[in-house]
Amino acid sequence: MFQAPRGTQDILPEDQRFIHFIQEKVKVLAHLYGYYRIDTPTFEEAGLFVRTVGEGTDIVEKEMYTFTDLSGGQMTLRPEGTAPVCRAYIEHGMASLAQPIKLYYHAPIFRYERPQAGRFRQHHQFGFEAIGEADASLDAEMIDMAWRLFASLGLQSLTLQINSIGCSQCRPAYLGKLKEYYRGLNAELCGDCKVRLEKNTLRLLDCKKTTCQPFADGSPHSATHLCSECDEHFGQLRKNLNALGLTYSINPRLVRGLDYYNKTVFEIQPADEGGQSTLAGGGRYDGLIAELGGHSTPAVGFATGIERIVLNLKKQNICIPEIAKPVIYVAWLGEVAREVAIKTTVALRRNSISTLCTYTPRSLKSQLRQADGAGCRYVAIIGEDEVTRGVLTLRDLDTAQQEAVTIERLAEELTNRTSGSEKRFDVNA
Ligand code: HAM
Repeated sequence: MFQAPRGTQDILPEDQRFIHFIQEKVKVLAHLYGYYRIDTPTFEEAGLFVRTVGEGTDIVEKEMYTFTDLSGGQMTLRPEGTAPVCRAYIEHGMASLAQPIKLYYHAPIFRYERPQAGRFRQHHQFGFEAIGEADASLDAEMIDMAWRLFASLGLQSLTLQINSIGCSQCRPAYLGKLKEYYRGLNAELCGDCKVRLEKNTLRLLDCKKTTCQPFADGSPHSATHLCSECDEHFGQLRKNLNALGLTYSINPRLVRGLDYYNKTVFEIQPADEGGQSTLAGGGRYDGLIAELGGHSTPAVGFATGIERIVLNLKKQNICIPEIAKPVIYVAWLGEVAREVAIKTTVALRRNSISTLCTYTPRSLKSQLRQADGAGCRYVAIIGEDEVTRGVLTLRDLDTAQQEAVTIERLAEELTNRTSGSEKRFDVNA
């Protein structure tokens, strides 16, 4: 028997309401902050990610699904969403439009990771990117938006962590100090950290091994080795976050797993869990567009994993609206009634009323069970007697009351009874 590949999952109908709930909140939020949706291809040239995410990163070294296509091109299933959006920004000449360009996406992401709770080989992200503005107010707005998203979903007990990892001016000197510090500990480092020491020094701070973590605690901090411009930017960010009333902590070990960041980095995590279960992460990436051949363009963004949000919604027992159920089940008994029932079903659907009906003869009991199982509020019962009288019996399954209604009046009657009952989603709820 075939099964879904390891690290992937089917999202069954009963879980779709979670996705729908999150999607609706994201849509409202995006509109509120002025973001427009963008969709990019599921695969891109491998070089796009190698160049931007960085050669020394876990994603590029161990996790990309790269394949050779039939014309010999090296293609990679999207392991993150920022580089494709920047590629699209350049390709479609968005630099000539009023800046910043604010884009958001909802996309499957592929990383060959070791599967565990909340860690998949295919997961889905909502991502937001604001391209063309350097001011730290935009970083704060981005963080505020991420925070508002989780608040609107009803998630509680989250923490916001920020850091500044400097820029191409101040980072080399800081990395020199970090290297010097870790060289003194070389004999005690894990195998991966020995490689990181030479290839990707900053990631030493991010090692998840318990034996290495104490070293990070005693290491020099990037935020205290910033050039004046980065220092000023980080100060502005904190000032803006304070003005927005956001509570945050500065985490000197927060460096992120992708190489394109500079200045601001941030993560939002469930309070009682570590960095393994991060809900959202992002930061500033002022060098990425130029790295891809565009003009030097500042940018900032974040992304959040939908599967992790769903996990937390379930963990925190948050009440999620049901997906709208069919309004009515048209039950029939006998061949003549079947014809009238199908015509009635078609007419109701033409009137935008969600309707179920069986084509195969079933007992009334079985049809009522189907109606109940599907969550229909109403059942219309048509038998030979009803056909002769030109009516049907409309039963309200909630109140068990029933009445005879003419077939012509059914749509209007149902519209009157159900109007105003649709659920609305409010980001401020
Ligand atoms: P990231 O931190 O690698 O950042 O991923 C963003 C979010 O995706 C994480 O916070 C987490 O919720 C979710 N996620 C990551 N890996 C997995 C996984 N294996 N299984 C389930 N969920 C996962 C980025 O990808 C950047 N592109 C974010 C960004 C946007 N930075 C600037 N703009």
